[in-house]
Amino acid sequence: MSEAALEVRHLEKRFAADARFVGRRSYVHAVDDVSFMLRPGTITALVGESGSGKSTVARLLARLYAPTAGSVIYRGKDVARDKSRRSVLRYRSQVQMIFQDPFGSLNPVKTIRHHLERPLRIHGIVERDEVEDRVHELLRTVGLVPPGHVADKYPHELSGGQRQRVAIARTLAVEPVVLLADEPTSMLDVSIRIGILNLMLKLKEERDIAFLYVTHDLASARYLADDILVMYAGQIVEQGPIEQVLADPLHPYTKLLLSAAADPEAGVETKRIEVRKGLASAAVDPPDGCRFVGRCPLAIDVCSRVTPALVEAHPGQAARCHVTAPASAGIAAVPSTS
Ligand SMILES: Nc1ncnc2c1ncn2[C@@H]1O[C@H](COP(=O)(O)OP(=O)(O)OP(=O)(O)O)[C@@H](O)[C@H]1O
Ligand code: SF4
Ligand SMILES: [Mg+2]
Repeated sequence: MSEAALEVRHLEKRFAADARFVGRRSYVHAVDDVSFMLRPGTITALVGESGSGKSTVARLLARLYAPTAGSVIYRGKDVARDKSRRSVLRYRSQVQMIFQDPFGSLNPVKTIRHHLERPLRIHGIVERDEVEDRVHELLRTVGLVPPGHVADKYPHELSGGQRQRVAIARTLAVEPVVLLADEPTSMLDVSIRIGILNLMLKLKEERDIAFLYVTHDLASARYLADDILVMYAGQIVEQGPIEQVLADPLHPYTKLLLSAAADPEAGVETKRIEVRKGLASAAVDPPDGCRFVGRCPLAIDVCSRVTPALVEAHPGQAARCHVTAPASAGIAAVPSTS
């Protein structure tokens, strides 16, 4: 296995719970004991329903949040501990985030040229007289042509898909090692989503970028990703190569997601109901035991008493389940860099 571009170990993020849970000091365990690695030239999908902690993971990796506990390891160092301004800036240029709403991340009164020149100048990526050429090259890379024409436009003169391409071009300006894409197509028309997904595939292959692709949508995850992380109530409940996991899921929650995806109408309805009823409380001051126990058709006595470990039950495929990935079936799965 190739060396990790970025690795997280036992990552944890807690937020004070909102007023609905007052009475005693309560915390949402938004991210709890999360370990995985992102490898160069691969796309890792992070899936799970609303509120499961996906964006919090991406934000922790982008250093937009400080972790409550755990490590984020980049180039052999735990970046969560190195808070010097220089290293934070350097890290943020190499590990960048692509947001859901491209319009929100672009300045409406500045041209596209300005958005792309700025990072080139700030980070001194190219000589002054090469800036214009590099801006054109970036625009061509993300499929915005003719580049001279696009560079003169303002964000509102472009379509949503074109704006997301500009946002991606801006991240590429500083030659990132890792891109964290948080639902990058969910605000775009269905007809243009595929173009952005294909652009990510191209960048992974041509630039060896390690992607984290956060999504609700299993179909796009299957299309794009090499590996999958399935999150439920702050924890990774299953991980492995995506083809293998989707063909033969271990965790009952992954099976539920797959059945919802196969029946989109029922899936949306099921999700809405379950998110309201169960999910928020499953991650608020969670007691020992499996967080999925209230919804699980396979639950046995031990499930409500003992928190299941993430166990590699099949080669490369791990799940957090006493029944389908019992501790006796494999080894506790902690990513290795070898
Ligand atoms: N800044 C914050 N302050 C307090 N609680 C937060 C904060 N950010 C996230 N949370 C809580 O952490 C949990 C995980 O939220 P997160 O946004 O990571 O979920 P998500 O999987 O990205 O959901 P969605 O699919 O809706 O984007 C939720 O219970 C959320 O309310
Ligand atoms: S540990 Fe128990 S409750 Fe949790 S998913 Fe497995 S069988 Fe279901
Ligand atoms: Mg989110």
